[in-house]
Amino acid sequence: MGFPHPNHPKETIVLSQYFGDADARTYAGWVKRGGYEALKKALGMAPEAIVEEIKASGLRGRGGAGFPTGLKWSFMPKGDHKPHYLVCNADESEPGTFKDRELMRWTPHQLIEGCAIGAYAIGAERCYIYIRGEFTEPWRVMTKAVEEAYTNGALGANVFGTGKRIDIVLHRGAGAYICGEETAMMNSIEGRRGNPRIKPPFPAVAGLFGMPTTINNVETLTAVSHILNRGAAWYKGLCLSSPKSTGTKLFSVCGHIMKPGNYEVTMGFPMKSLIHDLAGGMRPGRRLKAVIPGGSSVPIMNAVEAEAALCDYEGIVAQGSMLGSAGFIVMDDSADIVYEIYRLAKFYAHESCAQCTQCREGTAWTTKILERILKGQGKREDLDLLLDLSEQMTGKTICVLSDSCATPIVSGIKKFPEEFDAYLSRAKAPALAAV
Ligand SMILES: Cc1cc2nc3c(=O)[nH]c(=O)nc-3n(C[C@H](O)[C@H](O)[C@H](O)COP(=O)(O)O)c2cc1C
Repeated sequence: MGFPHPNHPKETIVLSQYFGDADARTYAGWVKRGGYEALKKALGMAPEAIVEEIKASGLRGRGGAGFPTGLKWSFMPKGDHKPHYLVCNADESEPGTFKDRELMRWTPHQLIEGCAIGAYAIGAERCYIYIRGEFTEPWRVMTKAVEEAYTNGALGANVFGTGKRIDIVLHRGAGAYICGEETAMMNSIEGRRGNPRIKPPFPAVAGLFGMPTTINNVETLTAVSHILNRGAAWYKGLCLSSPKSTGTKLFSVCGHIMKPGNYEVTMGFPMKSLIHDLAGGMRPGRRLKAVIPGGSSVPIMNAVEAEAALCDYEGIVAQGSMLGSAGFIVMDDSADIVYEIYRLAKFYAHESCAQCTQCREGTAWTTKILERILKGQGKREDLDLLLDLSEQMTGKTICVLSDSCATPIVSGIKKFPEEFDAYLSRAKAPALAAV
């Protein structure tokens, strides 16, 4: 099993075990804690055996979609004699999500080790870690750690004397949310505008610089060394509910909550306990109204759904939403759902790369209509218009940014109709001043 947290026995800490422990940031400190043993073990294994071990563990991508990691790695061609690349997605710009930056800040070598193992497993000699531009401290910590890893032979032309080459290149983004989308990220690394690419071809066929590429999230890759050290069966056993959701997961909890922060629990942990017990529950006198659990790009859950959900891929779907990036945006009864949805729509409108008409126009129009409602100038037909626009924005674009904007709007109208009605019937004072 994992390790119980000293203050929260309900937490199972594996990835976050050394959060707050500055010594673990250094190469020597990481080695003292058993670091780089998994990489040494991996380099003595056949790459296919590593892929099989990751498959057997049930590890699924932590970047949002939950795609099985071992299966993704197995898509990389074999014997093609082309350069292969691993790209680590450290862009983490999803609203409400703040786990990857902490993994980099506190345990940079955990990530470097995971990247090196992942690169070797997919036949890549180079891994790019794409770090969000605003992440000043994680960038500094990662830069130092990569330097130390080279100095100590954990990276370079002859990793730990095995004759195998693994290089890590840190690439700093410039603050665009869209560059977190994997194909936009590859364009950005290539020095192009960060516009998503049409698939197919999929990255495993033609990715970075046109070569076979795998893209994985920071948290996904940090889990890899633990799986190799302790075995796939151990990781698979970390499961409280659905056997399709294994391991531990970092949940970022923010919003109207007493103790915002990252909490690492075993997959299937009850959301009610995570919110009310670990994260300290609501402010005095307040009650839970809503949770957007996957960062902001998933359906809003009402309090009944949230308190009934189990925190894994299947458990959150069963309660009408999705796990996504597992950033919980918690809202109490003081929240104005219409205003919160407007804020999100405005975010997506700002971050749209504007390639696809449905996204460029849809995100802007929905923002304007929500603004009109909040100014007390909404019409009854506006709800149908929002739903119609949302439908046009779903499943029709190169990437899912457009869908991500539509999702909270549709679920908000469906689950909180009275909040919209209060503005449309003029029963509630405008939240935005009319101009
Ligand atoms: C608009 C948009 C933004 C995204 N931002 C991120 C991000 O910041 N971090 C991330 O890991 N994945 C992000 N993703 C998902 C990635 O495209 C990709 O699925 C993920 O990095 C794959 O890693 P995984 O298989 O380990 O989850 C984003 C997707 C979209 C459509």
